[in-house]
Amino acid sequence: MAQAHSEICEQQLNGVSEEIELLHIEVFTDEGQDRPGREDARCSRNVLRKQRHWERQVAAKKSKRKEEKMRRKLNREQQTGGRAGGPLLTKRVLKAITRERLAEAQCTGLKLCVDLSMTDSMSSKEVSRLAGQLRRLYGSNRKATQPFHLFLTNLREDSCLYKECIRMNSGFLRYMMDVTEDSCLDLFPPETVVYLTPDAEHALETVDSDKVYILGGLVDESVQKRLSLSRATELSVHTARLPIDEYMVKKHNPKNFHSKILAINQVFDILLTFCHTGSWTEAFHTWFPQGKGYIVAQDVSSTPDITVAQS
Ligand SMILES: C[S@@+](CC[C@H](N)C(=O)[O-])C[C@H]1O[C@@H](n2cnc3c(N)ncnc32)[C@H](O)[C@@H]1O
Repeated sequence: MAQAHSEICEQQLNGVSEEIELLHIEVFTDEGQDRPGREDARCSRNVLRKQRHWERQVAAKKSKRKEEKMRRKLNREQQTGGRAGGPLLTKRVLKAITRERLAEAQCTGLKLCVDLSMTDSMSSKEVSRLAGQLRRLYGSNRKATQPFHLFLTNLREDSCLYKECIRMNSGFLRYMMDVTEDSCLDLFPPETVVYLTPDAEHALETVDSDKVYILGGLVDESVQKRLSLSRATELSVHTARLPIDEYMVKKHNPKNFHSKILAINQVFDILLTFCHTGSWTEAFHTWFPQGKGYIVAQDVSSTPDITVAQS
């Protein structure tokens, strides 16, 4: 009996120490208790830092799970052609449907260019990340029931980005989009062009088939502020920002971090969902990254553990 009891105690202790190990929290024994005060303060700072790190990891995992769920839902919708409970289609048929949709988009779809004229000021790491973002952007377009007509402008075949796209993005040369060395203004009249930039004064209200939307091919690693706004000014075209201020509020967070600057594929996912649903609220709710310190205004009342920060 006594032996069984001590085995249970030992198992419980093992469980607790495993949990502590998972949390990466340092625990001090009696010997450590009479350390000088400074040492104690340093230790508790370490514990807090590690706890915050752990909380950030949990939040990131939660956000990834949500994105995965959304992706699976979109895949399911695509497989059934948007009809719940519809028949599952074979891979070959799905591929044919995707190609047909993309071909149709190249004739009648909404137009979006990624302006790749600014890659010279980017590091090779940033160029690789941009190649990855272009792959994700194209992947989202392939899955869309109403894809955009995509253009990669100012992309030279001898550029590092072009080489990186071929190296990293399998099938890049067969992507169903227009790749050109020309600039967006060689392709479209300036009055139809709307350059999307986080620094624009006016918010984008809707997505219009008479307009051509431009995303700046930039990665914000070594944050180059207002670069896309300067580029739009140089081209003398209209600008617009995503209507984040109009539909979202700042969320309180320990670092008081709030950013409205998104990666090009994130902006594109938001545009696709807005075009599909007509709702900015839904588009931001689905795609706005959790770590940016914003929450959709409508979601505040249904999320009691969130506190809104002063703007
Ligand atoms: C990583 S951002 C580049 C931010 C960069 N500092 C700049 O100069 O704009 C890449 C591109 O995504 C688009 N973008 C990102 N956040 C946006 C927002 N809040 N509103 C509109 N466009 C945005 C813009 O086209 C921008 O050029």
